[in-house]
Amino acid sequence: MPAALAEVPDLVVVPDSSLADLTTLRIGGRPRALVEGRTAEAVAAAVRILDDAGVPVLVLGGGSNLVVAEGGLDLVVVAVRNHDVTFGEDMVCSGAGVTWDDLVAESVERGLGGLECLSGIPGSVGATPVQNVGAYGVEVAQLLVRVRLYDRASREDRWVDPVELGLDYRTSVLKNTDRAVVLEVEFRLDPDGLSEPIRYAELAARLDVEPGERTDAAQVRETVLALRRGKGMVLDGEDHDTWSAGSFFTNPVVPSEEIDAVRERVEARVGAAQAGRMPRFDADGGVKLSAGWLIERAGFAKGHPAPDAPARLSTKHALAITNRGSATADDVIALAREVRDGVREAFGVELRPEPVWVGCAI
Ligand code: EPU
Repeated sequence: MPAALAEVPDLVVVPDSSLADLTTLRIGGRPRALVEGRTAEAVAAAVRILDDAGVPVLVLGGGSNLVVAEGGLDLVVVAVRNHDVTFGEDMVCSGAGVTWDDLVAESVERGLGGLECLSGIPGSVGATPVQNVGAYGVEVAQLLVRVRLYDRASREDRWVDPVELGLDYRTSVLKNTDRAVVLEVEFRLDPDGLSEPIRYAELAARLDVEPGERTDAAQVRETVLALRRGKGMVLDGEDHDTWSAGSFFTNPVVPSEEIDAVRERVEARVGAAQAGRMPRFDADGGVKLSAGWLIERAGFAKGHPAPDAPARLSTKHALAITNRGSATADDVIALAREVRDGVREAFGVELRPEPVWVGCAI
């Protein structure tokens, strides 16, 4: 480890760390070292010093979107742990290291609307712009005001406008690159305590509102949390069904000219009645299908392959791969490949994994 790290204020070296303790899948080996940056400046300084020394770096937030190989890992983990939060009348500025759901909970408690549909999502604030986190009809792109980035190429620490981030469905120019580290994020919030318009049909039905209506943010938060729990998408240390990296695949967008062929394959497999109910949404360049729905119809039921398997699909949602306690990265990869290949063979649709891979790949 470069000696200069010891000089950085608010940077804490944590001995004997393991990625298994730092990821929600609870899989992963031992890095060369783990340092925690308690301020934005400490995070940026650590990354700069390691970059200058040519040491491979893994920037870690909440660890909820990572699949990490076991064994010795030739990298230093810089954990983003800056926790300052400043609320204004209609905004909040948050350190990237804040736990995302704590920020959502506090903004709702303060009577500020906007983030409520994104309740119960694991991970940290800093991860949300990187993959434009979204759920229940809202994505952070709608609410972002500005993002403070440490640019690893130019070594600049600066605030950027969200338009520079190329935000799109579960992605941005930052995803799957090492070019920048998110240090702080500012969101606009609604001072009337009203939610964003409710767009997701299942949520509107539960809330008994018309799609497009806005309603009490606190009530939306409770309803979203209940929906997510029902799908095993709220972390619970006691419940292996929630030891996952969230949705393992993004929902595929099928080009318009291919959708009829996919529909025919679906019909051949599950019959016209079910095929007629296939979830589909208009998207840029085609039709977005539901990965979870396709996975089940391709023959991978919730809980696949078996109750005693080390890695299984969640028993509540076919889109989450879960570690039942003893799974290795290889177990997760084997299951992910089986599902991806099975969906491709059944329907000709390519599923793309959502998590970031460290030392391994699907
Ligand atoms: N479905 C199934 N079987 C399943 C799961 C879902 O048939 O096992 C069907 C459902 O019946 C529904 C459709 O698939 O018709 C969509 O399911 P769901 O409402 O659960 O949403 P999703 O598309 O699977 C997405 C996000 C989630 C987000 C929810 C709610 C992606 C990849 N996933 O899931 O985000 O919470 O919508 O908005 O976009 C995440 O990204 O990690 C994540 C959890």
